[in-house]
Amino acid sequence: MKNNLLLLISAIFILTTNCGKKEKTNNIPDYRISNSTQNSSNGFSLLKNNCLTCHSPTDNMENRIAPPMEAIKRHYISTETTEEAFTKDLIDFLNNPTVEKSKMPNAVHRFNLMPRMGYRESDLKEIAAYIFNTNLEKPGWFEQHFNEERAKYRLKNNTTPIDQGRQIAMNTKAVLGKNLMLAIQNKGTEKAISFCNTRAIPLTDSMAIAQQAKIKRVSDKNRNPKNAANDDELAYIELSKKRINNNQSPQPQIKNLGDKLIGYYPIMTNKMCLQCHGQPESEVLPNTLKRLKSLYPNDKALGYSENELRGIWVIEMGN
Ligand code: HEC
Ligand code: HEC
Repeated sequence: MKNNLLLLISAIFILTTNCGKKEKTNNIPDYRISNSTQNSSNGFSLLKNNCLTCHSPTDNMENRIAPPMEAIKRHYISTETTEEAFTKDLIDFLNNPTVEKSKMPNAVHRFNLMPRMGYRESDLKEIAAYIFNTNLEKPGWFEQHFNEERAKYRLKNNTTPIDQGRQIAMNTKAVLGKNLMLAIQNKGTEKAISFCNTRAIPLTDSMAIAQQAKIKRVSDKNRNPKNAANDDELAYIELSKKRINNNQSPQPQIKNLGDKLIGYYPIMTNKMCLQCHGQPESEVLPNTLKRLKSLYPNDKALGYSENELRGIWVIEMGN
């Protein structure tokens, strides 16, 4: 009896201490694992369960529902994009996908806009961290397709920097111009203002990523405060205006800053521009004017005529 009790007590003792020990040894490594790698593997399972059915890394080109995640990564992240900025862009888009916010107009055109899915913000943060920090799996056809897309914009090797910059500016102008014309045709001038208001800068940015350059459109008489020219840019604008006044055409200019080159290219007005940049009331009609005033209370970009310097492209390229 006494022996049995002793056995029982020691058994309980062993059991409890073992359990205690077991719990402890199990807890510590688990905790450490979750600190170091669980975040990314959790990010991966969130990505897999929520996104990869549509953004599949293996589906072939013909039967896809959406671009592979690697394509999205390359349109959202340039060498200068921080993880923070990427996370914000991703969450902004997914919380409420709109054509205005898209950085991938071709994908919207081909697949239609991504539906709004109602993801949890905390999940999206983990997904963003995973996408940002990990090499993603991509389909076999992807690299070739991506290079072909990029080749559309690829610059000829033997061109001078000033021509390379011009090509980048003209490619961007073509994309902006085409989309602006479509907006005017489909919705009229007044509504097309929202296109310029919400799309001009994002479209310019996505062209910048596609062409691996920094692209700005600035002016001495800017409409959007973000497009105000800095001192160097103003100097180039003044020079160009002088040439125009002397009946010469403005010349592009390139500045060498050692590790980078900055190209300046004139942007001239034509008749089409005057419906939004011309004489108030007579050319910029009252409704259009009202809409412009409400979006841009400090608008300086009115009163232009044809063939005037409306602003400049500023193209920053690696040297
Ligand atoms: C039901 C299908 C579907 C699911 C699920 C889905 N997407 Fe998409 N997504 C699309 C389609 C279609 C597009 C291409 C059209 C577009 O860009 O809006 C797209 C585009 C995108 C874009 C690019 C938006 C742009 O145009 O700039 C991002 C970023 C994106 N998806 C992230 C995600 C993430 C992250 C997840 C998971 C949390 C996810 N998607 C889940 C269908 C989906
Ligand atoms: C439908 C109206 C509309 C038309 C047409 C239009 N623009 Fe604009 N433009 C705008 C709006 C709105 C902005 C401000 C965009 C922003 O907020 O980024 C703008 C901005 C600009 C800028 C950037 C500098 C600034 O003032 O903020 C330039 C340069 C420019 N436009 C040139 C032109 C030229 C050249 C044409 C004709 C080929 C033209 N625009 C036609 C509405 C228009």
